[in-house]
Amino acid sequence: MRVLHAEGLRLEPVLPRNAAVLWGVLKEPGLREYQELPAVSAAEFAHMVEQRERRLDAESLGRFEWLIYPTGATQPVGWVSLRIPSGALRAGEIGYTLLPQARGRGYATRAVRALLAEAQAVAVLAEIRAYCVPENQASRRVLERIGFRKTDLLRHGATVRGRAVDVVVYAYTSSGKSNQTSARRKPA
Ligand SMILES: CC(C)(COP(=O)(O)OP(=O)(O)OC[C@H]1O[C@@H](n2cnc3c(N)ncnc32)[C@H](O)[C@@H]1OP(=O)(O)O)[C@@H](O)C(=O)NCCC(=O)NCCS
Repeated sequence: MRVLHAEGLRLEPVLPRNAAVLWGVLKEPGLREYQELPAVSAAEFAHMVEQRERRLDAESLGRFEWLIYPTGATQPVGWVSLRIPSGALRAGEIGYTLLPQARGRGYATRAVRALLAEAQAVAVLAEIRAYCVPENQASRRVLERIGFRKTDLLRHGATVRGRAVDVVVYAYTSSGKSNQTSARRKPA
């Protein structure tokens, strides 16, 4: 995994040496309204990150994350994630979150664009998907502006804060065509 750059942003790979930084961000309030996030101890989280692949290339599988830093900042304002499950189609799933005080400045749009470029060029993914609840207008706006297309609506496709919720499935392909596959899973 390498450092990614977007206008005004630096995306630092999450590795064992900085897993505690992401764990600290995960505990911040205001991040769980539309998504289920892991509620694990610092040690459990460090262990999870320790188990992950560190190299992102055309054969990589698993979960990869980057902390988002505005240029010059020492504290992160959020993160982006890429999950690559095994399967016949080489596809990935992205997720992204910003702390409430950092929203509305275009950070998510720029960070997700940088992640998409990496997912296509380095991880060589044929399709990248994103999942969000229908009410999450900010997230849907980010995806639609970037060029994701809505491909499905999964009724009760995920659970958020103990409640079954619908999930909108979005897909992005460099060809602009979707492979029309989706699965029951958590919103990104
Ligand atoms: C989704 C999220 C990452 C967006 O981050 P962000 O940096 O504010 O995104 P951007 O500034 O790049 O773009 C947000 C867009 O949504 C719009 N938006 C924000 N809130 C909105 C709302 N309630 N209704 C409609 N549009 C909204 C903004 O106006 C902006 O669009 P514009 O630039 O055309 O005006 C952020 O809101 C977040 O972290 N939410 C909580 C976690 C989450 O939901 N993650 C995604 C799970 S699928």
